[in-house]
Amino acid sequence: MDCIEIEGGVQLHGHVRVSGAKNAALPIMASLLLTTGATRLRNVPRVRDVVTFGQVLQALGAKMSFDASELVIDTSAIDRYEAPYDLVKTMRASFLVLGPLLARYGQARVSLPGGCAIGARPVNLHLKGLQALGARLELTQGYVHGYADQLRGTAIVLPSATVTGTENIMMAAVLAKGTTIIDNAAREPEVVDLAESLTQMGARVTGVGSSCISIEGVPRLQPAAHDIIPDRIEAGTFLVAGAMTGGDVTIDHCLPVHLGALLDHLRATGAAVEVGDDWVRVIGSERAYPLDLATAPYPGFPTDMQAQMMALLSRANGRSIISETVFENRYMHAAELSRMGAEIHLEGADAIVMGVPQLHGAPVMATDLRASASLILAGLAAQGITTVSRVYHLDRGYEQIEAKLAALGAKIRRLP
Ligand code: EPZ
Repeated sequence: MDCIEIEGGVQLHGHVRVSGAKNAALPIMASLLLTTGATRLRNVPRVRDVVTFGQVLQALGAKMSFDASELVIDTSAIDRYEAPYDLVKTMRASFLVLGPLLARYGQARVSLPGGCAIGARPVNLHLKGLQALGARLELTQGYVHGYADQLRGTAIVLPSATVTGTENIMMAAVLAKGTTIIDNAAREPEVVDLAESLTQMGARVTGVGSSCISIEGVPRLQPAAHDIIPDRIEAGTFLVAGAMTGGDVTIDHCLPVHLGALLDHLRATGAAVEVGDDWVRVIGSERAYPLDLATAPYPGFPTDMQAQMMALLSRANGRSIISETVFENRYMHAAELSRMGAEIHLEGADAIVMGVPQLHGAPVMATDLRASASLILAGLAAQGITTVSRVYHLDRGYEQIEAKLAALGAKIRRLP
């Protein structure tokens, strides 16, 4: 298993271009099951989750070619409707094929995703929404067996905002007979990008980006090329890297409008932040101010940036309180940061971070995607050498992160 070695203490300087958003690419790949033919997706990140999702689609009979950041998927030969456990267990987003398979083929056999490091991750709201549209779902031996002659539009109220739940239901509703209203829908930019891609294919979706989405079912959709939006979490990760090292980093070709909550919090820690049409620049301060933050569904502070901010706040000049309100076990990185000298005390959903003047390099272990990013960031700012093991977690969602950081001056290398 690869690990990444970092010699900390270097201020990062320069420009970096982020890849396309993993969490937009995955649902949009699933949506291609709603059409027959070849679709070209551009600005697709070369990350492990995209390759895994491609394997799920190929297991259904799709053909795929992935050249640089351009993905072509042909669904003309789809003739199987099962997403197997061995693929779904490695990547829960595979569950997103359920809605499209039911809408387009009237049948699906998809493994329940099970939990992961950050929480139980139930999918009850996905199932409830699909049943409301008329799907018949049976749960046996860890699989969802779904059947639907013709889905029918209906009003669905989601008790809590679920990102992939909204996406699964939306992809089923676009081919349903009649109108579907999804109330308390997720507002994440990745949900908006999926809706835009569906609209280019001929779907009738309005209100996306708000918490009330309306979908007018249509008989069929046509393949349509789509450019994936830039990855706001990757952009946020590099901005925190610039702030933490007291450097000066500009993210090119991003969408600042997707970064509002993060930029507000970075400014509150004392970093200088400049914003352009498609770029953001951060200039780190000598030492961050502490702050209290609570994660929330978009447009609140993103849970996917919580671990990265904890790394930054672990060196702040005072006490910070972090509240993780979205997932029940997303503090696995705290123990590893403590190995580097951070002083973090967990109390239920809260993490109390007493800032220390310096972190020290140490061997640490990645446990999940964003935890591994926070350990890389801590290593960049720490004195000495940090070795992060199990970086396969990192490779799920970051494309060539060590090359991008090295281009900003970081002393970082991947060891086999
Ligand atoms: C998406 O996961 C993202 N993944 C996650 O990114 C992200 O952390 C999360 O949204 C929150 O923003 C993808 O888009 C592929 P949720 P998702 O359904 O959709 C509860 C990363 O790092 N819930 O919005 O699975 C759930 O337990 C990953 O890239 C139910 O109770 O998240 C959680 O507490 C990690 N029942 C809350 O809702 C359901 O049926 C939010 O989960 C569904 C969710």
